[in-house]
Amino acid sequence: MNVQTIMVVGAGQMGSGIAQVSAQAGFRVILNDVKQEFVERGLGIISKNLSRNVEKGRMSEEEKQEVLSRLTLSTDLSDGKAADFVIEAVTENMAVKTEIFKKLDEVCPAHTVLASNTSSLPITEIAAVTTRPEKVIGMHFMNPVPVMKLVEIIRGLQTADEVYQLTEDLSKQMAKVPVSVNDFPGFVSNRVLMPMINEAIYCVYEGVATPEAIDEVMKLGMNHPMGPLTLADFIGLDTCLYIMEVLYEGFGDSKYRPCPLLRKYVKAGWLGKKSGRGFYVYN
Ligand code: CAA
Repeated sequence: MNVQTIMVVGAGQMGSGIAQVSAQAGFRVILNDVKQEFVERGLGIISKNLSRNVEKGRMSEEEKQEVLSRLTLSTDLSDGKAADFVIEAVTENMAVKTEIFKKLDEVCPAHTVLASNTSSLPITEIAAVTTRPEKVIGMHFMNPVPVMKLVEIIRGLQTADEVYQLTEDLSKQMAKVPVSVNDFPGFVSNRVLMPMINEAIYCVYEGVATPEAIDEVMKLGMNHPMGPLTLADFIGLDTCLYIMEVLYEGFGDSKYRPCPLLRKYVKAGWLGKKSGRGFYVYN
């Protein structure tokens, strides 16, 4: 199948990043969200990122305008009728995602592949609400999308081989490195990353060290670009808690229990960078 138009559902940090790399790869992109102000904010993020590329001499002003001209904004999921490939990047909530997949399944042409950028939810379960489970797949990008090379590609139980191949090819066209992973809670990225972040939070909770000290240990001792608590604030503490819950519930193993301090911060509305406070304070 020849993909020409990609629809990205969800214009937040992840969705706008996915729309950007798709448009930069030469695809026509429909960026969709529930409100006009959300899609406009997403376009603003993309425009700012592209301008930085122009300033740094990695792209000409004409190329930037060409990339932007490939993007259209949408607040109606029915616009999926024009898409060959859809990438859903909305909030990590099964009910919201399945509602969107049901609607996309209704409006999209029979050939359209429906991918989810979910960071931990089962692809097989999302696929089951559609009439095309063989065309449903996980395509998990990392934050910030324009910078991070990895795309985890997750096959659901019924995902067709040619759909996997197409998704892998598409990732490469977006200058990403695809890695194949089976459908288990948290896949590989979050199964390994989140328990490390949770353990770092336990270190704060138990008074082993301050957040600054823990981050310094992991940055200087393990060469991580960000310490685990800075990274948790960057990802969002609500997302971290949600993923730990998915692991805890999915495996039924106490080693995945979320740290009570993480729960407390989320209940207080301390969600990290996006709310202005998490393990650190942001202005
Ligand atoms: N969007 C676009 N570009 C960005 C960006 C953003 N949000 N943030 C940083 N960049 C770019 C900068 O413009 C800069 O590019 P140039 O050097 O070409 O100008 C480059 O990235 C490096 O940025 P900085 O010099 O400002 O800062 P840095 O060297 O500390 O790098 C970082 C920033 C790339 C975010 C780095 O700290 C890093 O790799 N952190 C770890 C990120 C990570 O682990 N991500 C995965 C999170 S988990 C996830 O996403 C999965 C999940 O399901 C939860």
